[in-house]
Amino acid sequence: MTGPILSLRGVSKSFPQGGLLDRLLGRDSRLVALEAVSLDVVRGDVVGIVGESGSGKSTLAGLAVGLARPTSGEVLLDGQSMAELMRDHAGPWRRRVQMVFQDSSSALNPRKSVARCLSETLALRGVSSAQREHEIADLLTLVGLGPEIGPRLPHELSGGQRQRIGLARALAMKPEVLIADEPVSALDVSLQAQVINLLSRLTRELGLTLLFISHDLALVRTLCSRIVVMRKGTIVEQGPCLDVLGRPQHPYTQALIAAVPKGLAGRRTPLPVRAEAAPPETREDIHGAA
Ligand SMILES: Nc1ncnc2c1ncn2[C@@H]1O[C@H](COP(=O)(O)OP(=O)(O)OP(=O)(O)O)[C@@H](O)[C@H]1O
Ligand SMILES: [Mg+2]
Repeated sequence: MTGPILSLRGVSKSFPQGGLLDRLLGRDSRLVALEAVSLDVVRGDVVGIVGESGSGKSTLAGLAVGLARPTSGEVLLDGQSMAELMRDHAGPWRRRVQMVFQDSSSALNPRKSVARCLSETLALRGVSSAQREHEIADLLTLVGLGPEIGPRLPHELSGGQRQRIGLARALAMKPEVLIADEPVSALDVSLQAQVINLLSRLTRELGLTLLFISHDLALVRTLCSRIVVMRKGTIVEQGPCLDVLGRPQHPYTQALIAAVPKGLAGRRTPLPVRAEAAPPETREDIHGAA
């Protein structure tokens, strides 16, 4: 039996609230963004994280990817605590857990070409400069883009292409866990389907563990094997996606499902889109080296 790849054990995260004056007057208060959250993610799982705005989804993602430290509790990667893994430097953890953001342009340097950005990421992984050119071509192919994208700057890309580059950059690190925080919510529905399709295929082909944060329950139901429902910094319900969405136990989950326009079952989901049905310029049919 192998243990979970990612675990949160009683993790809380709070942020200081109020201005300097409040603090000077001793009116110090803290906003609790996560409260005693425990979660085990098994290798290869595709876990959807849902919940209203402000429920703590991105805070949880930030802790899992090592961008922030918990106020209390422990985050473990493959049984090793983050604190221990990061004692010397954050490198190893950061390599193994990668993140794709809602808008990749914020994560890309506007003055650096796609190729340069990918090259720098590959250098962090220790790939020799001679090898980088090949790997960049492979990564672009992997996310369904051609080599002509390499010299382009982020603003010269479409929204869908930028998300693919965000994904390519995350994959350049050869992560074990990928966290996608609303990766398609800035895209229109037809592009959403393509990027989700790509994410789904790569997760399978590369054997990734995926944490998929979304407000779209229908999308989560199509993509994910498990679901975690968050509210006010806690997990109110979790389990196999079809069970939780089919027979929600918690009133909050029931309310979330009831709030889906036209209902979960009736809503047209953008998935599945077969690769051959996608427009040719997306090149989803080209499979790169895994
Ligand atoms: N760096 C920060 N400093 C202060 N408060 C923060 C910080 N980051 C998050 N918060 C607060 O923590 C709570 C949880 O925020 P979080 O971003 O995790 O929610 P979310 O579930 O991702 O919401 P959304 O669906 O809108 O993205 C919110 O009340 C937010 O205002
Ligand atoms: Mg968020």
